[in-house]
Amino acid sequence: MSFPYQFSASAQAMRPSPIRELFKLIQRPGMISFAGGLPDPAIFPTREFAQCAPVLGDKGTVALQYGATEGYAPLVDLLRERMEKPLGRPIRPEEVIISSGSQQVMDMLSRVLIDPGDVIITEAPTYPGALHTFRNQGARFAVVPCDASGMIVDKLPEVIDRCRKETGKLPKLIYSIVNFSNPSGACLAAARRPLLAQIASAHGVPVLEDDPYGELRYHGEAAPTVFSSGSGGVLFASSFSKILAPGVRVAWAVGDPELIRKMAISKQGMDLCTSVVAQVLVAEYCRRGFLDAHLERIRAHYKAKADAMSEALRRRLPEGAAQWADPEGGFFFWVELAKGNARDLFQRAVDAGVAFLPGDTCYPSRDETVGEPVDGSRFARLCFTFAQPAEIDEGARRLAEALG
Ligand SMILES: Cc1ncc(COP(=O)(O)O)c(C=O)c1O
Repeated sequence: MSFPYQFSASAQAMRPSPIRELFKLIQRPGMISFAGGLPDPAIFPTREFAQCAPVLGDKGTVALQYGATEGYAPLVDLLRERMEKPLGRPIRPEEVIISSGSQQVMDMLSRVLIDPGDVIITEAPTYPGALHTFRNQGARFAVVPCDASGMIVDKLPEVIDRCRKETGKLPKLIYSIVNFSNPSGACLAAARRPLLAQIASAHGVPVLEDDPYGELRYHGEAAPTVFSSGSGGVLFASSFSKILAPGVRVAWAVGDPELIRKMAISKQGMDLCTSVVAQVLVAEYCRRGFLDAHLERIRAHYKAKADAMSEALRRRLPEGAAQWADPEGGFFFWVELAKGNARDLFQRAVDAGVAFLPGDTCYPSRDETVGEPVDGSRFARLCFTFAQPAEIDEGARRLAEALG
């Protein structure tokens, strides 16, 4: 008999991440995976990163000690300088917090904002990992549909009003992935960005602008951040996971000092501080100019892979079976099936030796949605960065076989 643990109500309500469950199915040898949103390990800057190791001797007593919860000051300063241009103004130290991955930004934020039953507004579709974190805190969701230009911001006031009517409270947060969204690959149109900031601020609802992919643009022009057009109330978050390596677990958020302070207090109860060893190494890596050189390399590398996937899907998938828009950056193709649903296709695809992420994982379920849910069962998310070029074509061929 197992030990009679008395789990908390919130632990009892927790559901396993649907992605982790699916990934158990795709561990078979020979499987081509477009499923996880993983960077290509073949392009990790292992040599340059190792060259930074002597800093652990020079700064050893700092690196091996507990650090400030808000982050290692030289890295904070480096990020303040780097962020000044995209965020549109100088950034003060008290506006920054370094986190253990940007997943922790969502965790901190939901702990300081969400009481069970509170509502978070998300795009539909959105990042499943964000839904998981918010859900663990007892959040419900209201969704704003998206088109090829990201969140349909015009619909936001209606969604906010509806939340207020149905729950008696304002939603606590608007969560948006503005550049090369996970999963849709779409970017929020430049004209919609100030509008999002204005509507959010007029209603008194803060925004989390989650931007781990913004620097991975392969075509076209970047649009200004929502933060830069906002009048406060926008928390900007980004991460070294996609531009350097997820194993470093170093990310950052920039926002209102009062919010950052609360987040820091919640972080004190999670991990006291992000690994100082990792922060010292990442700061040294940036200080030596390696990050900018690496970004040039990965943009070219991933652009070639995005082109390969575009070509493979066009050539391999049966005419009229699916449609998609080629992304201008990021990690993902978001493919809409003409008929059937992506869960059934997933089973057939895994049998044929290729895996993707079924789109329904990227939408809150009906029972946790306030207002109208959006149905994502026709969509499949294909990650193009992890597979090798030959696998991209073969994976598309297997997908075509599963489509029948
Ligand atoms: C949109 C988005 N936000 C946040 C994360 C979490 O990234 P990390 O915790 O590695 O910084 C991911 C990871 O895939 C993501 O796609």
